[in-house]
Amino acid sequence: SDALKIGIAGLGTVGASLVRILQERHEALATTCGRAIEITAVTARDRNRDRGVDLTAMQWHDDALSLAQTADIDVFVELMGGAGEPAYSAVKAALSRGLHVVTANKALLAAHGIELAGLAEEHGALLNYEAAVAGGIPVIKALRESLTGNTISRVYGIMNGTCNYILTKMEKEGLSFEACLKEAQRLGYAEADPAFDIEGNDTAHKLAILTSLAYGTAIAADDIYLEGITNISIDDIHAAADLGYRIKLLGVAQRTESGIEQRVHPTMVPLDSVIAQVDGVTNAVAIESDILGELLMVGPGAGGNATASAVLGDIADIAKSRPGAQHVPAFGRPVTALLTYKRAQIQ
Ligand code: NDP
Ligand code: HSE
Repeated sequence: SDALKIGIAGLGTVGASLVRILQERHEALATTCGRAIEITAVTARDRNRDRGVDLTAMQWHDDALSLAQTADIDVFVELMGGAGEPAYSAVKAALSRGLHVVTANKALLAAHGIELAGLAEEHGALLNYEAAVAGGIPVIKALRESLTGNTISRVYGIMNGTCNYILTKMEKEGLSFEACLKEAQRLGYAEADPAFDIEGNDTAHKLAILTSLAYGTAIAADDIYLEGITNISIDDIHAAADLGYRIKLLGVAQRTESGIEQRVHPTMVPLDSVIAQVDGVTNAVAIESDILGELLMVGPGAGGNATASAVLGDIADIAKSRPGAQHVPAFGRPVTALLTYKRAQIQ
């Protein structure tokens, strides 16, 4: 058959949601995409773990690299996480075979995105990563495709659902930081190591990806001024409210007179601004550009279904694409220099 065969590495919060949705909507997706999408191979760490989905029709691999290297698939879907192994080698192996890759792994892209995009181009493969930034919000498509031709002056927003959930719950329910974080973990919002969320690294990874797309720069997460939310207390939140502000963890990438500046830090935003009203796991990304003006996208930023929705869209795009067709590159070649936080004027 001409079904699109996919292999999924990682069957946790996002992977298990994706499997369930692909199974439940198999017929509808086949109609929409013009061909069926079949999961033929899967891998995770623990073969015996009950994931609440039926994996019997799929070939199990003990190892992500071997799946990427040997499985009979068209698309390698990487949902394990982590900038290092096995994700890095497995994605490289898949692209080197000319397989398309779909990933939600912002840590991997922040570390190796330009290299992986180059490998994809070299082998005529697609590298799609809509889920890597702001969960289900289609911000990658907006920057990669819809805003082409605009000069972008600023990209900013709430890009970490866990942090926004914690800040919202602390304010509205008076719960402790630790209790809110535990709940975010239970709901599947947090990273495997939640330090990445609360110390701001996850927002930095996402911002670095957006910066590269918006301004044609390298992906330089390590050059970002970085401050997380671990020092924010309930007293800080109440003090901000008394002054007419709400505290949000923002990522900001903007053109300045001295160059492109990137920063991540808790920010006091006026209570009557749209960003201040963005609560819980919801994310918001604003893009200011010269032709369009200001675009603000608000939506679910983390969680199994929200993230699987974006992964599914990426897979469906591949299912609909014609073999040999020209595609938008995953990242452009870096042409613009970035300020490092040491030189940036933090305002
Ligand atoms: P989970 O921790 O829930 O799942 C990770 C999965 O990967 C598990 O099934 C795990 O196996 C498997 N895995 C981990 N290490 C290995 C390994 N060495 N070899 C094979 N399999 C491995 O993570 P999430 O589903 O939450 O996240 C997946 C990816 O999506 C990450 O990159 C994350 O940053 C990203 N993401 C997550 C979002 C969310 O809301 N959760 C939102 C946007 C992006 P096992 O189950 O056996 O332990
Ligand atoms: N841990 C991330 C968050 C997942 O809370 O936003 C979505 O990228």
